[in-house]
Amino acid sequence: MATTILHVSKIISAHFNIGGSIKPLPGDEDENFKIESTQGNTYILKIADSKVSFEHLDFLNAVSIHLNIHNISVKTPLVIPAQNGALIIEIELEGIKRYVRLISWIDGRIWATINPKTKNLREQLGQKAGEITKQLLNFEHPAALRTCDWDLAASAWTCNHVYLFDSEEKEIVLNFQKQFTQNKKKYDALPKSVIHGDVNDYNILVSENLKHPTIAGIFDFGDAVYSQTINDVAILIAYASMDVPDPLEAAIAILKGYQLEYTFSEAELHCLYVLVAMRLVTTVTKAAIRQKNESENKYHGISEEPAWDLLKKWRTIHPEFAEYSFRNACGFDAHPQETHFTTWASKNQVSLRTMFPSELLNSITVVDMSVGSTLFGNLSEYSDPEVSEFKLKQFNKQNPTALLANGYLETRPFYTTDAFKSEGNNGPRYRTVHLGTDFWVSAQSPVHAPFEGVVKIIHHNDYDKDYGPMLILEHTFDDIIFYTLYGHLTLTSLSILKTGDRVKQGELIAYIGAPNENGNWAPHLHFQIILDLLGNNANFNGVALPSEKEIWRSICPDPNLVFTEEILQTKPKYTDEEIINFRREHLGKSLSLSYDTPLHIVRGEGVYLIDTDGKKYLDTANNVNHVGHQHPKVVATGQRQMAVLTTNTRYLHEEIIAYTDALLKKLPKELSVLHIVNSGSEANELALRMARTITKSNHMLAIEVGYHGNTNAAMNVSSYKFNHTGGSGKPDTTHILPLPDPYRGKHTGPNCGTDYANYAQSNIDRLKSKGDTIAGFIGESIISCGGQIVPPANYFKDVYKSVRAAGGICISDEVQTGFGRMGKTFWAFELYDVIPDIVTMGKPAGNGHPLAVVACTREVADAFDTGLEFFNTFGGNPVACAIGRSVLEVIEDENLQQNALDVGVFLKSELKRLQKLHLIIGSVRGEGLFLGFEINDANKSPLPEQAVYLANRMKELGILISTDGPDNNVIKIKPPIVFSKENAQELIFRLETVFGEDFMHLPH
Ligand SMILES: Cc1ncc(COP(=O)(O)O)c(C=O)c1O
Repeated sequence: MATTILHVSKIISAHFNIGGSIKPLPGDEDENFKIESTQGNTYILKIADSKVSFEHLDFLNAVSIHLNIHNISVKTPLVIPAQNGALIIEIELEGIKRYVRLISWIDGRIWATINPKTKNLREQLGQKAGEITKQLLNFEHPAALRTCDWDLAASAWTCNHVYLFDSEEKEIVLNFQKQFTQNKKKYDALPKSVIHGDVNDYNILVSENLKHPTIAGIFDFGDAVYSQTINDVAILIAYASMDVPDPLEAAIAILKGYQLEYTFSEAELHCLYVLVAMRLVTTVTKAAIRQKNESENKYHGISEEPAWDLLKKWRTIHPEFAEYSFRNACGFDAHPQETHFTTWASKNQVSLRTMFPSELLNSITVVDMSVGSTLFGNLSEYSDPEVSEFKLKQFNKQNPTALLANGYLETRPFYTTDAFKSEGNNGPRYRTVHLGTDFWVSAQSPVHAPFEGVVKIIHHNDYDKDYGPMLILEHTFDDIIFYTLYGHLTLTSLSILKTGDRVKQGELIAYIGAPNENGNWAPHLHFQIILDLLGNNANFNGVALPSEKEIWRSICPDPNLVFTEEILQTKPKYTDEEIINFRREHLGKSLSLSYDTPLHIVRGEGVYLIDTDGKKYLDTANNVNHVGHQHPKVVATGQRQMAVLTTNTRYLHEEIIAYTDALLKKLPKELSVLHIVNSGSEANELALRMARTITKSNHMLAIEVGYHGNTNAAMNVSSYKFNHTGGSGKPDTTHILPLPDPYRGKHTGPNCGTDYANYAQSNIDRLKSKGDTIAGFIGESIISCGGQIVPPANYFKDVYKSVRAAGGICISDEVQTGFGRMGKTFWAFELYDVIPDIVTMGKPAGNGHPLAVVACTREVADAFDTGLEFFNTFGGNPVACAIGRSVLEVIEDENLQQNALDVGVFLKSELKRLQKLHLIIGSVRGEGLFLGFEINDANKSPLPEQAVYLANRMKELGILISTDGPDNNVIKIKPPIVFSKENAQELIFRLETVFGEDFMHLPH
């Protein structure tokens, strides 16, 4: 029978002189009670199971004291002496002798409940656990020498219970038991010490800081035992790598932290993989036995499901690859033979002429094919083998006798497609790092064996962008075995040799394939050295994840090592740090960088931006690259025109006519005159000058938190800037109308549109009373910097009415909102059924090329024509106009306004669904693909820290979103309008992930 609270109360009062609140805690065999004493201290009273010996408890106490007197940075429970000085009290409960101990309580949250468990946190956990291991290395106690089922050294006992499992589960358990038994001799010889023995996910405490959590403590030493020291990290990995797509990545993080405290031997790391598995096998076996015996016991079932899940994933990791990864994490060569091979290679180099006797090969030229290389253009170009071949030939023309070679450890754009994608612990990732060297020689060129060897694999990897026909030779020299891989061969090469054939050095082994047979690449040989085939018998990775680059570098050494000729590697000119420092030194200080760790973006592709590692970011923040980053049609149009002519507008040219004509077709007929300029700021500068010239007044009405550009006049109507840090305050000629925010603004409710619009009239009246008139009003139709504020329906109609009645000009800034983004309408002003006198456009007009436009009525244009020439060096040049025309054509051809509507409606409804689930989401608003939502508490108070956290976490998960609004708590979504429903689903999926995280729960 369980001990009652009354019993506990008597025990603590009698033996420890403590009173206070008592709460039972879940426990395995012991009974545990949380005591909050009236003196303000917290403890756990542990009443040991009657089977537990005094010696064992004495051992646990000794561990507790040992760890607490040594200065370690992680908290562990301290045993508290009773009034008589004893650390163990003997009591009798219902006639049974029981031992009682009081230990200190450690505050914190249980590891199992933490979300997210980041790489940093895992590293820290590893380090803290490593500290405990280190501290216990020289600790001894006779009771530590014991046997128990949870001791990994004894885990072979599980072999007697395999009958509890069926099919796949049985096969998994048997497999790991077999590996363990095979390794047993090596394992038995590993160093031993007293270990915690059960650093599981319910025995780890994390601090209460939700944003920057740290490891607060490790407790429950009840399973401490003298055993192989490596067991502790194996157990920790088994639990702290659960519930992630890539447990090996999680394991490596733990190990990286652990090895800072404890120096692993190579023999220990050799055993680690199977030990992790054996801990899980023990867990599932224990659970199966209990289920059989007791029908149900919740406490034991807790980790059973995740244990199976991890076992299944762990099984898919090749044991040697795991070992190489562990070695790399602990500072060893990932592959144990790496140094040996390097030494051998340096003494046995051969000329590339041995492999390519028919090539001229006077020199070797390196071709840059890294992600940011401009040589191969965009996806549509580099994925077309004919275009690549043509470009390579052009490149080769400069040096016709050179052999073009490249690629070892190069991060390439070719592999940023779905075929190379997988889900990592931080969102999607791509195997972008090339592991071989490519030799760009013509189709049908013969390839000869650089070394004597035996055919190990010959196989047709008949998939798009795979190797096509591929050959692997095995080479054995003295005490070294390595492999060489030849990919992208002709189909005929498959019948030159067969598996097991011996080839001599210099013997013909294959021919270079053409695109139709070689996996659809420009003809080349992919040559790769491999030290371990990792059980592959048909294919072998030619590319790897950037995060695993160092491991693969060791498994697949640099082909340069075996050739006498030097094949250089392409390297970025500057590191990220150098770029940051250079910017600081030589670029304007007020230039900002996004994110705490800035992104180094080198390629744009549709809705994605891609960094130097080939990590693809779904870009939901970019309304400049409107029809998609580097849209092939727009790029080609610009390139073609740039190759022919670019001048100012003082000559006749058809492009400006074509563009003007196309753009006017998209505007109401009243807006019939264009001035073409180069930026949104310049457009607004001109629009303001027009209004002021025509009205002969300087006074402008503008909306609070509006932004209209960086020129003097534009800045002067941008309260987003002049009222912000470093701003010079509102100029006398600017009159700010309150942000017409119907959700959290000055006025809400059904009449708020009129309330907000009345400020225009009251400002006009105030000016009038001083004898002043107004030049006009400038505003965005959805106020972007204001936080995607959608003004009430009648707002603009009423404002325009007041302004026009006072003789002012109405300017609509469509720099962010225009060109079909709204979905329902091509321009945002059309949502309000108004026609401005001037419309300014920018960002999307040139899809990233500097192109902006001022459109106005004939009346405005005529009135502005005072005889003063409007000259603009670049505005309206043929390249800009060709690009602008192309953008309009793409919007039309690809039906992108409709896409903005369809995807926008879907995305908004999904955001509203999330809003119902996550109270931290305030208003969801916007039109088409110009959406926003607020991060608020239950009283609508903004939570900017959470908004910034969200943006940073989304970046880690591969999605770029931006924050804005006067309180920086609004998430803005304004992607290229090629954004698809799948992209929207991806965005929602990742948002849901982050909304589930601890810091995003509504604060109490
Ligand atoms: C609404 C609005 N107007 C004008 C501008 C200025 O455009 P640009 O940066 O092209 O000069 C911006 C730029 O962010 C803007 O958002």
